Amino acid sequence: MNTESPTPPPNQEPITPKQLYLTRRKFLEAAGIFSASAILAACMGSTPASPSGPVTPETDTETPKNLATSYNNYYEFGTSKSSVAERAANFQMQPWQVEVGGLVKHPQTFSIEDLLVNFKQEQRVYRMRCVEAWSMVLPWTGFPLAKLLEAVVPLPEAKFVAFQSVYRPEEMPGQVRLDFPWPYLEGLRLDEAQHPLTLLATGLYEEPLTPQNGGPIRLVVPWKYGFKSAKALVKITLQADQPVTFWNAIAPQEYGFYANVNPAVDHPRWSQSEERRIGEIGSRATLLFNGYNEVAPLYEGMNLTVNF
Ligand code: MTE
Repeated sequence: MNTESPTPPPNQEPITPKQLYLTRRKFLEAAGIFSASAILAACMGSTPASPSGPVTPETDTETPKNLATSYNNYYEFGTSKSSVAERAANFQMQPWQVEVGGLVKHPQTFSIEDLLVNFKQEQRVYRMRCVEAWSMVLPWTGFPLAKLLEAVVPLPEAKFVAFQSVYRPEEMPGQVRLDFPWPYLEGLRLDEAQHPLTLLATGLYEEPLTPQNGGPIRLVVPWKYGFKSAKALVKITLQADQPVTFWNAIAPQEYGFYANVNPAVDHPRWSQSEERRIGEIGSRATLLFNGYNEVAPLYEGMNLTVNF
């Protein structure tokens, strides 16, 4: 594993020492990310739209920021959604590294700054559907996971991608108090990981990702239940076998590996046919693949009731 200064993708400038000593906020502004000018550029249409197109404005209104940053699932900080933000407030997100390895030609450890500078950051408004039958509409900043995978070059034997969240019991009380198989693990099939909708998010509401929302970097897979979108990533491993995942290991009959949003397959405790949009009254019908029908070819010929 190369933990030395990482090689930037072709046509990119290497990281300069100056960028390394700037504070995270200043660094992001210096890089033109999350600054007023970057936001203006996005408004003027220089940022590519989501491959799925923007979500339909009449039916999908962006969830207010105060709700998305105060109603969180993050078991490392306990089971109370409304306490996560406060408990995570002092979580240290700098320095931060993500180790990318396993069955790849160029294993590499990236600092968060490398990822922000060397991979073009985009704005994507995605629906997020939790298996607990609530949903939000969130404006992420980030870059396609496919671009990171391209940089490390998967070997032909690589069929799956495993994701590991940080293990830091001294800062994460849930890792001490809750008897779960820490660290939080997730996984995707390689073709799911390479799908253009699959995002590594570094920001939310045009600001750096807050600790409670999974900062400094998390996975976002909008057609799957929210638990697939692992927060605070430190390790991404390409492998031949299906990865062990946190919730599937705890309760395999409740949480499948695929976890595609599917109104026809109920969770034992929650009907999945409808959902409650946080910040709105009433409920709405849940859509197969959370409405991202372009992913359907990934599952052609598969029984989605068995592979739930
Ligand atoms: N990632 C880690 N590491 N730990 C978690 O407990 N919860 C998941 C997912 N990622 C979780 C996680 C679940 S169940 C959901 S619904 C989403 O994060 C919630 O993301 P949000 O708090 O940003 O809305």
